Order: sequence, then C-alpha cells, then structure tokens
Amino acid sequence: MNKLQVISDFDMTLSRFGCNGRRCPTSHNILDNSRVISEDGKKKLKDLLHHYYPIEIDPNRTLEEKRPLMVEWWTRAHELLSQQKIQKGDIAQIVRESEVMLRDGFNEMFDQLHKYNVPLFIFSAGVGDILEEIIRQANVFYSNVNVVSNYMDFDDNGVLRRFKGPLIHTYNKNNSVLQGTEYFQQLSTRTSIILLGDSMGDLTMADGVPSVENILKIGFLNDKVEERRGKYLDAYDIVLESDETLDVVNGILRYILIKT
Ligand code: TMP
Ligand code: MG
Repeated sequence: MNKLQVISDFDMTLSRFGCNGRRCPTSHNILDNSRVISEDGKKKLKDLLHHYYPIEIDPNRTLEEKRPLMVEWWTRAHELLSQQKIQKGDIAQIVRESEVMLRDGFNEMFDQLHKYNVPLFIFSAGVGDILEEIIRQANVFYSNVNVVSNYMDFDDNGVLRRFKGPLIHTYNKNNSVLQGTEYFQQLSTRTSIILLGDSMGDLTMADGVPSVENILKIGFLNDKVEERRGKYLDAYDIVLESDETLDVVNGILRYILIKT
C-alpha cells in the first residue's frame, strides 16, 4: 500500500462512455453542447469530432500517422472554443447542466485511495477546468488527487482567451508534457502502479515514473470493440468490455489495501 500509486485517464475511463443507451459527453463535449456556444460554433466543433474521432480510434493507422492529426484536432477545437467568450464563472453551471456521469463505483475508488493515502494522478487530454469541476461536484476531489490536463487561460475579466500549454492530446500522454512537474520524482518510492485507460494512447502515462517494479494496466474497450480487441488484449493486462463500472478496479484495490 505504501508502494502503490494509481495513474488514470479521465474521459471515458473515470467518466462513463454510455448512459441510458446514449453516449456520455467527454469534457470537451460538455463545453461543445452547452448553451454558451453559438449554433455556428457547435456545428464546427461537431464537424471536427466527426472527422477526427474515427481517426483517433482507427486500429489500422499508426501512432506516427495519428499524432499530427490529433494536434490539428485539438488546436482547431481550442481555437473555436476560445472565440466563444466562455466565462470562468459559468463553468460550474455548464457542468451541472451536462449529462456527464462518473462510472459506478467511483465513490468507493476515490474514498479508498484517499483513506489509504494512495496518490491518484489523473492524466487527461480533456479540459482540466471541466474535469476538476466534475470531481468537485461529485465531492471526491481529495488532497491525494493530482490532475495534469489542458487548462483554460482566462483574461482579467474572466473570459476564455486561449488554452495554456503544453497541448496534451491522446497520443502524447507521456513524460514529454510533464517536464518540470516533479510529480513522479516526488513519488519515487511508489513503484507499484495501477494504470487505467481507454485508449492506446493511455499506455504511456506511467513512462515518467523513475523506477517501476510492478504495473497493472487496466483498459476499458468502449468503442469499435471487435476491431480493436486484439490490440487491447496485447497491450493491456485486463480488458473490460461493456462495463460502465469501476468494480474490477475496486475489487483489486480492496484486495491490495485491506490485505496489506
Ligand atoms: P483522453 O480521454 O485520452 O484524455 O482524451 C480526451 C478525449 O477527448 C479524446 O477521446 C477525444 C475527445 N475530444 C473531444 O471529444 N472533443 C474535442 O474537441 C477534442 C479535441 C477531443
Ligand atoms: Mg479517455
């Protein structure tokens, strides 16, 4: 337990992929669908999603091929969002009015990690301000939770102007965007890792950990299940399909935390 740390993706890993037969929103989608975006802005953001999301999850393209296209998607989306005069003071309400849901069992997971002082690192290519608000509203933003993500940059009037760098997209979630954060160095005795993700890009999230003794990679295979199963089974230790819960993670945590 003293050697354990958890490193997790946020969108579609801690948050749900589907709810009531519909897709749940990502942190970007929460903004895109909100009342503060103009109709024209909504259409353009949706067009980007329909163009780039199939590329993001395409099992037949290499990461090298995908990377520049993801930079393009994130850059264009952030530019569009930055033109919408989004107010910092509206974020809480936007999240409250959204359809986002955390996976069932999130309470147990966050509570147990907090109770046993296990650090939880949320490494997200989503929007940091939105995901922090989601976990705050869920009352689980405890002191052992640290987030690295894309944060909004507001002007003196609290209006969104741009996003702060470095840009984090699905396929650069590794040490290259953590330079200067010291986070993993401070946790150098935490050499046992549970990694949670839903994308092939999430597999490199622990690359900055100085010495890894044990790593258990748990992957949620949400979409294009048949086409991607082979690659997920090769890369992740546990692959979860049609599972909107954190039950497997909680079972493993219970075993580790209570038995040690
Ligand atoms: P992550 O879950 O790996 O942190 O990535 C965030 C997800 O956000 C990724 O699956 C793509 C998605 N996304 C949107 O839904 N809308 C957008 O505008 C962008 C840039 C990303
Ligand atoms: Mg994800």
